[in-house]
Order: sequence, then C-alpha cells, then structure tokens
Amino acid sequence: MELISSWCYDGSLPESYVMPPEKRPGDLVVPLEKSIPVIDLQCHDRNETIRQILKAGEEYGFFQIINHGVSKDLMDETMNVAEEFHAMPGLDKERECSKDPSGSCKLYTSSYVYPREDFHLWRDALTHPCRPSDEDIQFWPEKPTRYRQVVGAYSVELWKLSRRILEFICQGLGLSPDYLSNDLSHVPKIMINHYPPCPEPSLTLGLSKHRDPTIITILLQGQINGLQVFKDGRWIGVEPLPHAFVVNIGYLLQIISNGKLVGTEHRVVTNSRDARTTVSYFVYPCDESLVGPAQELVDAKNPAIYKAFKFTDFVAAFVLKRDDEAVKELISAPSCN
Ligand code: OGA
Ligand code: NI
Repeated sequence: MELISSWCYDGSLPESYVMPPEKRPGDLVVPLEKSIPVIDLQCHDRNETIRQILKAGEEYGFFQIINHGVSKDLMDETMNVAEEFHAMPGLDKERECSKDPSGSCKLYTSSYVYPREDFHLWRDALTHPCRPSDEDIQFWPEKPTRYRQVVGAYSVELWKLSRRILEFICQGLGLSPDYLSNDLSHVPKIMINHYPPCPEPSLTLGLSKHRDPTIITILLQGQINGLQVFKDGRWIGVEPLPHAFVVNIGYLLQIISNGKLVGTEHRVVTNSRDARTTVSYFVYPCDESLVGPAQELVDAKNPAIYKAFKFTDFVAAFVLKRDDEAVKELISAPSCN
C-alpha cells in the first residue's frame, strides 16, 4: 500500500484505479443543489430549528449548518494542519501515525480493505479517535507541530456541536433530549481525507457510494467541490459554503429512528485541477453498545423494521466484510426479511 500523495504520477491513471464502466462516476458535474437545506443554528426559535433539522433528516439525510458557534479561525486552522499533514513526506506520515501499539491512529490509502479491493479509490486518509477527555491525544501525530493543539481544540468544539445537534434530533423525534447522549455517541473519530488532483476523474472515485456507519457525521469540506448525495435516483452536489459544516444522518441513526431519518448514500468525485482535503467528525457508539429502533418510536402502527444488534457486529459485517446479505441478516426485523 502506498499513499497516492507519495508517488509521482505521470499523467495517466494506474490500471488498479480504473473502475469497471458500470461503477464509474458518470456525470462529474452535477447540479449544485441549493435545495440541500442550510440551517442557521443561531435562529432564536428553537422549535423552528428542530423542525428544519428533522425535515432535512427525513428528506435528504443531509443539511448544512451556519452560525454553529465554532470559530472561523479554528475551522481554518484545522483545515491548514489537515493539508499540512498530507503534504508531509510519506515516511513522516507513517511515523507520526504509529505511536499507538494497538493501532488506534491509522494512515491508509483507498479503504480499510485495500488488499482485497478490485480497484482502488483516489484518496489517502488519516483517522484516530478524538474523545474530548484528552486520553486519545498521546497517540496523535506531533507533526505538523500544531497538530495536537489545533485538532485537540477542534475536537472539543465538535464534541459540543455534536451534542447540540443530537439534542435537536432527539427532540425532533419525540425522544428525551439526552436519548443519544450516552454510549451510543461517545466514541467520536476524526478522519482527514485527502484527494490529490487526479489524472482521469471520469474513471475513478475518491469515495464510492456509501452510507456512513455512524450516528451522525459532521464534515468540514473546504472550498473544493466533490461531495455528491444520491437523492431520488440522481446525484446532487453539496455546494461548498464558507465556514459551514455539512451534517449527515448515519446509517445507525436511520435504524434508531426506525427509518424516519435517512442515512443517505453519498460519494466523492475527483478533479484534475485541485487537491481536496476534508475533515470528517464521525460520531460512533461504543463497541458493545446495542443499537436498534428506539422503543418510543415503535408501536402497533409503526412496527420495528430493524432489530437490535451490537455495534461491533455491525462493523464486522458492514465495514470489514462489506457483505450486504450479512448486514441485512443482522439488522432486519424478522417480519421484514
Ligand atoms: C466520509 C465522507 C466526504 C468528503 O468521510 O465518509 O463521505 O467530502 N467524506 O470527504
Ligand atoms: Ni461518508
């Protein structure tokens, strides 16, 4: 496995990155849909904010937030260290990501299952846990020199922001505001994605069509286009808005909400001109957490369409094995099989 940013490409895409025709991106330029809702979190009418978030979560599974309380400087600094990290020599990156013997800090290219892939994706990634309690920081990169300080501050702010969003969502669903503020959401992870300029954007993808195996994801996407959302059978682009965050409902929250909110599929297309760096903040449950439809949302009229499962079992089927049948088996309520 060699990071894309470590080899000099000569203008052609290596065969191992060429997707079969039916998986290729098709239209690289898609409508930058103004209709992905943009929600102002400073709105003084809390019920109105909740209503907007719920509606966006039901219809799109995606929304952008502005006036969210995270400072623009911190967002810019985080993007800067993210870009600086991926600009370092490959050996430095590897060294900076091997401080935890148990491997909690990971550097990889394409996906977790690189050796088993039929084709590779045009992306390098750094990921590590980022709980606000400091205990994860000892294993983070120390280069760029400001990495720990900046990403540490960012993690604290994103923790607070994620708590607010989860509370809004719970209230919108009619659950107690802290329904998700427990082991279901206590393992946040940062993922710093880097998509170098790609010689043949029409033959490959930065990320294939996927759902996030999360409760929610909060994305800092910078100013370069690339993220697309699959809605009503077509792809729509998520417009980069300065200092907004893109929030999406994860597959797990779709399940907890018994299908009311949607964990919409999305992908990343590449471009030949600009490198694109993004910072995902993934809100995950603890390994042993039981995930299933909230009892409060299930009754005779709305029977559970999913059954409860352990988060680790979901990761095994969905992330590691990528086995659709195994996922279905694990999550579908008996009557829906
Ligand atoms: C992800 C993701 C989008 C992006 O990390 O799961 O969908 O634009 N990222 O990098
Ligand atoms: Ni994603």
